[in-house]
Amino acid sequence: MKIGTPLSPNATRVMLLGSGELGKEVIIALQRLGVEVIAVDRYANAPGHQVAHRAHVIDMTDDAALRALIAAEKPHLIVPEIEALNTATLGEIEAHGIAQVIPTVKAVQLTMNREGIRRLAAEELGLPTSPYAFADSLPALQKAIDDGIGYPCFIKPTMSSSGKGQSRITDASEVAAAWDYAASGGRVNQGVVIVEGQIDFDYEITLLTVRARNAQGEIETHFCEPIGHLQQKGDYVESWQPQPMNSQALLRAQQIAKSVTDSLGGLGLFGVELFVKGKEVWFSEVSPRPHDTGMVTMASQRFSEFDLHARAILGLPVNVRLDRPAASAVIYGGADSRQLAYENIEQALAVPESDLRLFGKPESFNRRRMGVALASGKDVDEARARAKLAASLVRPIVEAA
Ligand SMILES: Nc1ncnc2c1ncn2[C@@H]1O[C@H](COP(=O)(O)OP(=O)(O)OP(=O)(O)O)[C@@H](O)[C@H]1O
Ligand SMILES: [Mg+2]
Repeated sequence: MKIGTPLSPNATRVMLLGSGELGKEVIIALQRLGVEVIAVDRYANAPGHQVAHRAHVIDMTDDAALRALIAAEKPHLIVPEIEALNTATLGEIEAHGIAQVIPTVKAVQLTMNREGIRRLAAEELGLPTSPYAFADSLPALQKAIDDGIGYPCFIKPTMSSSGKGQSRITDASEVAAAWDYAASGGRVNQGVVIVEGQIDFDYEITLLTVRARNAQGEIETHFCEPIGHLQQKGDYVESWQPQPMNSQALLRAQQIAKSVTDSLGGLGLFGVELFVKGKEVWFSEVSPRPHDTGMVTMASQRFSEFDLHARAILGLPVNVRLDRPAASAVIYGGADSRQLAYENIEQALAVPESDLRLFGKPESFNRRRMGVALASGKDVDEARARAKLAASLVRPIVEAA
């Protein structure tokens, strides 16, 4: 493995498609290894734009725009950070040997749509999942629920993330509203929803799973310690590592993660979302890239999930060791503003073993994630209390334009 000189003809070039807070950290990790990084997003001054060698704003679902940019920048690796991409274009780019898509085109195509990954996991790989059905109309949705999914259930657009367009309903009176919400909340309005029966789990985890080459060049699978997390309205608000687990459940979780990631293939880090009850484990979904709940690894591991992704995609060996229990707590904007400020940071950072990431997003919304507080401690309880306290001490304020 060889890395060239950035901004010279022999540079090792990586293009991020999507440059939010997760992409920003991947870029920083790549920059530290002397990689030339090109950050792309749909809006200007995205977090990753601010730390890359070059920044571009394009519609990444547009075939011609994507092709033209890749032709101009000539990246060796293309790293999707979001799901709203023209994956057919990426497929052709890779088929023509123009660039390599991380982790694979198949992984990017299957995970952009809940139907693709769910059918792979449940029908092809035979993994346990919640009961599910797909529906393309309100009557079809009602019929799927009546025919066996039952209540309570979750209704989600097949193309969405971060809980957008998602509802949990408990009886028939709520079906129509859930249908309308899913149809309007999806990222690309395909008019197809997934309805899932509720899994009555004890807790849920993200199992960060890394496919990386060893010193002999063979691909090996590594598992980080499990990350526990708390979700509100389909969005993560707190995460911690390690989540204590029964040893059989942990083994089962690793088997499921191995099965899914083997099938998706390629190199890189995956966030495998699983539900756990006693010794039983269900597959929920997977990100073929760093996961938001994995931001905790910036405080808990010797190498964060971003460092691990950077190393793995470059074909370098990884080390997933946990250093110290840690936690993360989300900081929301709390207001709509293009000029938000954060006060009281000195108080937040006076919390023992705490740290902050303020993403630098140019525009804030009430429920937009603008930062995260991190903290470590002697155990997960101490780390969680510290991270929550630090997050609560950061005070976003709207400054007059
Ligand atoms: N079938 C289910 N049974 C129980 N809980 C569920 C089910 N589906 C979703 N949830 C809850 O809702 C959360 C969000 O669901 P899911 O991960 O499918 O949505 P998402 O929009 O992809 O969210 P994100 O992008 O934040 O991962 C889950 O982490 C879980 O807490
Ligand atoms: Mg999820």
